[in-house]
Amino acid sequence: MTKFCSSTLAVPQANTCVPQHVAIIMDGNGRWAKKRLMPRVFGHKKGVDALRETVKTCDALGVRYLTVFAFSNENWRRPDDEVSFLMGLFLKVLQGEIERMHQNGIRLKIIGNRDRFSAELREWIESAEARTANNAGLTLTIAADYGARWDILQAVHRLQQSEPDKAASFGEAELTPYLSMAYAPEPDLFIRTGGEQRISNFLLWQLAYTELYFTDLLWPDFDAAAFGAAVDWYRGRERRFGRTSEQVQATSSC
Ligand code: FPP
Repeated sequence: MTKFCSSTLAVPQANTCVPQHVAIIMDGNGRWAKKRLMPRVFGHKKGVDALRETVKTCDALGVRYLTVFAFSNENWRRPDDEVSFLMGLFLKVLQGEIERMHQNGIRLKIIGNRDRFSAELREWIESAEARTANNAGLTLTIAADYGARWDILQAVHRLQQSEPDKAASFGEAELTPYLSMAYAPEPDLFIRTGGEQRISNFLLWQLAYTELYFTDLLWPDFDAAAFGAAVDWYRGRERRFGRTSEQVQATSSC
């Protein structure tokens, strides 16, 4: 039977268990396409297939939350045709996959700044979230026009507006309900494909205690076996959360 790691800081556990929350930077689509003498956008299309497979794998393994970085707030700097392709692909994914996701009990959430999206895309995002809101299976979060610094700042601004009395003296516990991912535990495992070893403004607050895994595989090549290898690596990590190894071993329960 699958056992989950708690990602609450109060109860550190050893890692013979499945990560409860996995966060992924899906990098390498462009290079994957270039290697095949295809346009970059072909790699993004294949990236959707890899995402679909990863969702299935997470569901099968018992991962509860999967969060993927689809479009950063720096990605607007890409060539116009690539940006429009990615926006169109996002819309197509919502239109084409939401029913199947719903049938499979997946709850879809989108985080990021929606102001620059078309009205049509915003409407589809809202209806996809509403349609799947009560599902009890995997929570799939897509970060789109997202940046962690933007997220932290919007949380501070909303806290200041909603609770002005706390504005001068708030702590972590007061701020976290205003962050975009307030509904999820912090990620246990972070994966970045494509060979780069950086966080690139993704979930900076939430990744503070996360195990970081980097692979040279390009995102379209990231399959169930590759996901399994990342989880196996994760299981070998000892998560101490500031404690000693002996303390962790005395309290571990999975
Ligand atoms: C990074 O690869 C990938 C992106 C910026 C886009 C990610 C999008 C997908 C995987 C498509 C599926 C997602 C949705 C929800 C539409 P890159 O283009 O930076 O690759 P490179 O580093 O090889 O150039």
